[in-house]
Amino acid sequence: MSLTVYLNGQFLPYEQATVSVEDRAFLLADGIYEVVRVYAGRPFGMEGHLTRLARSARELRLPAPDLDEIERVSLELLRINNLSDATIYIQVSRGAYAPRTHAFPTGPVTPTLLVIARSFKANAAQWETGIKAITVPDQRWARCDIKSVSLLPNALAKQAATDAGAQEAIFIKDGYAIEGSSSNFFAVLDGEIRTYPSCNYILTGITRNVALDVARKLGYKVREEGIPTTALGRCTEMWVTSTTQEVMPIVSLDGQVVGDGRPGPVAQALLKAMRELL
Ligand code: PDD
Repeated sequence: MSLTVYLNGQFLPYEQATVSVEDRAFLLADGIYEVVRVYAGRPFGMEGHLTRLARSARELRLPAPDLDEIERVSLELLRINNLSDATIYIQVSRGAYAPRTHAFPTGPVTPTLLVIARSFKANAAQWETGIKAITVPDQRWARCDIKSVSLLPNALAKQAATDAGAQEAIFIKDGYAIEGSSSNFFAVLDGEIRTYPSCNYILTGITRNVALDVARKLGYKVREEGIPTTALGRCTEMWVTSTTQEVMPIVSLDGQVVGDGRPGPVAQALLKAMRELL
């Protein structure tokens, strides 16, 4: 049976859900998105994701999305598609308008709203082995706090990691390791958990914030401060966090072994505590 998705007010079979060739997300990457994780049929952190979606919309001067509609539709898609462990992808674009202009449409335009829920299983084997990462220069814009669909530098960075036989690329900005191509970056340096501060250069991840809370509750020292590239060699542990990866240990960076080459105790403790929470 085909997946049912939600597009512009309608529940549709996946194959019939199409958007205009003039949609500004397609032409100009003029849109925003969220990815929400669903555990045993229940979305995790929906409120945080919706709050961030509303903020992204405000920052791009998009009309305020109807958050109640999105939440209701998300739950309905889980029900219709009989999903238990899943992700919900939500995208809002400024809509379709012709002729193409860079500036906002001058006439009335309805935003495009797409919601897709699909089955998802975490890569549990990778939690055991950890992943390899590489560093790449950050070539993105200065508003990475907005969760926009303009992800070309992220896609190129992830492909560079793939080409290098690694699973994630860590962006380097002004001499600091700031975040992953689709994740937030953490390390243990001098016995403290470090992660880049919430600001316009990174996406403040929902999972990042949960991980910080959990780490503090577990009694770890946490410092929201960047990790200089010159200190990466001294970090005893590294990991990334995201909705889909939760806490994913990094066991090698640019071919250099991190710690003893296995997931470290802090990452494992965080993952365990967060899995219990989830
Ligand atoms: N990405 N930083 C970037 C650049 C991201 O794309 C993501 C998430 C995160 C982590 O955010 P969160 O914990 O809220 O998932 C940080 C999603 C999962 C994606 O693009 O698929």
